Amino acid sequence: MSGSATLPVAILISGQGSNMAAIARACAEGSIGARIVTVIADHAAAAGIARAEGLGLATQIVPARQFADRKAFEAALEAALAQSRAHLVALAGFMRVLSGPFVQRYAGRMLNIHPSLLPRHRGLHTHDRVLQEGEREHGASVHFVTAELDAGPVICQGRLAVYPTDTVETLTARVHRLEHRIYPRVIGLYASGRLALRDSTVLLDGLPLAAPLLEREEEDPGLARADASA
Ligand code: GRF
Repeated sequence: MSGSATLPVAILISGQGSNMAAIARACAEGSIGARIVTVIADHAAAAGIARAEGLGLATQIVPARQFADRKAFEAALEAALAQSRAHLVALAGFMRVLSGPFVQRYAGRMLNIHPSLLPRHRGLHTHDRVLQEGEREHGASVHFVTAELDAGPVICQGRLAVYPTDTVETLTARVHRLEHRIYPRVIGLYASGRLALRDSTVLLDGLPLAAPLLEREEEDPGLARADASA
């Protein structure tokens, strides 16, 4: 699918933009019925902006620090989104907490990806916390954004086993690989009209989703054995 029949999506980033690139790849391959109409960063140094430009995507910088307060920043962000004519807004490593009224304006049209199995480990430093707490399982969640940070209804999760040999670096890389599968999948479902938010409930094909959709990392048999004997 391509052109105007596809869902116009805005992606908001602050960092590397690897999720943005994964979504862009799925759009370009035509495996999801979406197109990225803008990539917006909250600061000019976000590496994902150069990456987006390299992919031929339209980019905008809304430099958060240059606004007097969050209200002024969000007004500029809203203007940038309106100009892009995006229908869906996908936060992908966007490191700004958005206000309740702002989020409300995009109710049911704003997604986020978070590097943990929500509701566990909301907030920052999730890989570190998972290791500190000796968790056996970790992953990432795609959810609808609501006013409360990282607390919106979860649509899809990527799960993996935590091995004794894992570090923040290995978990970061493995979680990223899962994220690059689940975020395009969710956007594809949304683009084909199969996904919606009603009150606080995720609807898939018009029916409440009893549990988040699931993708699993294939276990590494060697590491799993080491884990069993640990
Ligand atoms: C991802 O791990 C995402 O879950 C979190 O920020 C990271 C963004 O990575 N919200 P990238 O910029 O997409 O590479």
